[in-house]
Amino acid sequence: MTAPSPQRTTEPPLPSIIGSSAAMQEVYRITRQVASRKASVLLLGETGTGKELIARAIHELSDRKKKPFVRVNCGALSESLLESELFGHVRGAFTGAIENRTGRFEAAHTGTIFLDEINSTTLHLQVKLLRVLQEREFERVGDTQTIRVDTRVIAASNRDLLEESTEGRFREDLYYRLNVVPVYLPSLRERREDIPSLVGHFLNYYNEENDTYVAHISPQALEALQDYHWPGNVRELQNYVERAVVMAMGDELTVELLPAVVRGEVEPHSMAIRRFDFDSLAEQLVVEGLSQADDKSEDLHSRIVDRVEREVISQVLGQCEGVQIKAAQRLGINRNTLHKKIKDYGLEPPAGGAKTA
Ligand SMILES: Nc1ncnc2c1ncn2[C@@H]1O[C@H](COP(=O)(O)OP(=O)(O)O)[C@@H](O)[C@H]1O
Ligand SMILES: [Mg+2]
Repeated sequence: MTAPSPQRTTEPPLPSIIGSSAAMQEVYRITRQVASRKASVLLLGETGTGKELIARAIHELSDRKKKPFVRVNCGALSESLLESELFGHVRGAFTGAIENRTGRFEAAHTGTIFLDEINSTTLHLQVKLLRVLQEREFERVGDTQTIRVDTRVIAASNRDLLEESTEGRFREDLYYRLNVVPVYLPSLRERREDIPSLVGHFLNYYNEENDTYVAHISPQALEALQDYHWPGNVRELQNYVERAVVMAMGDELTVELLPAVVRGEVEPHSMAIRRFDFDSLAEQLVVEGLSQADDKSEDLHSRIVDRVEREVISQVLGQCEGVQIKAAQRLGINRNTLHKKIKDYGLEPPAGGAKTA
């Protein structure tokens, strides 16, 4: 890792934020400037570009830093659960509301609330959010008493909210209320010059964590990393570096330690092309399943259908980061049904990693 050059004018606001490209310096500049203000901030950028990191930096640099920073992933909960998560509820407000519950806005009183994936909220909830932003007040679900909070709002979206509002999925008034100070996080492919220092940063991190010493990067590996298009941005880079550190035999990150997509050996669009051929894939799958069964099998249906079902659930769970409520919604099946299937198929996360909400 090289030391920061003295002529650099805009340093990262926190030591864990890496990147000195012009695009990131602009992010740092706005981050510092807005931190001390009360105005809402809207963080825009593709997934994995560092929106959450910047949200935390804004909080850390503000005079609220000793107060709570509360993150709510609006994309992980169904509308009604999110509503009571945000605003709280009173006993008996709905089936299952057996106790009064404080919402996250109250928990973030005097501090900061970070509404991640705000584009996932429903229009109904957006009305309530607009009111909190404008009036700083709301009621718990099922209650008439108005609660006032002093909470700084930071929101993030990986979609163009103006476009979402043109298409009727996002309230225009909320968009304008949030968009007072927008911060655009550049994608990694727009700041390739930062790739070496990011790789260095994650090498240090994972070497420490794994007690390894992968200190060098081969020129081919670095070239491959710099040429790749990084759809998952910094998060994707971070994952590949971790994997390389874990798999390395020596002290060098070589090109062989990188996934085939980064080495350029897999056509990035080959999956998309195959996808067009869904019908023949299905046919092939059944042929293969039948060929593995013997003549007397009386479980052909479950042998094949269950295998597909397990795969569907596993992949959708993965996409929903293991959040079962969201996965059930995406799958269009009942939550309890999903829970049972997860058990039946042995898809439960390892102990300690379970998520139910
Ligand atoms: N500029 C950066 N420097 C160091 N790590 C970063 C940077 N940007 C993102 N990361 C890391 O990448 C991962 C994804 O970042 P995150 O803030 O969760 O992205 P987003 O919220 O935009 O999806 C996190 O582990 C984060 O620490
Ligand atoms: Mg995020």
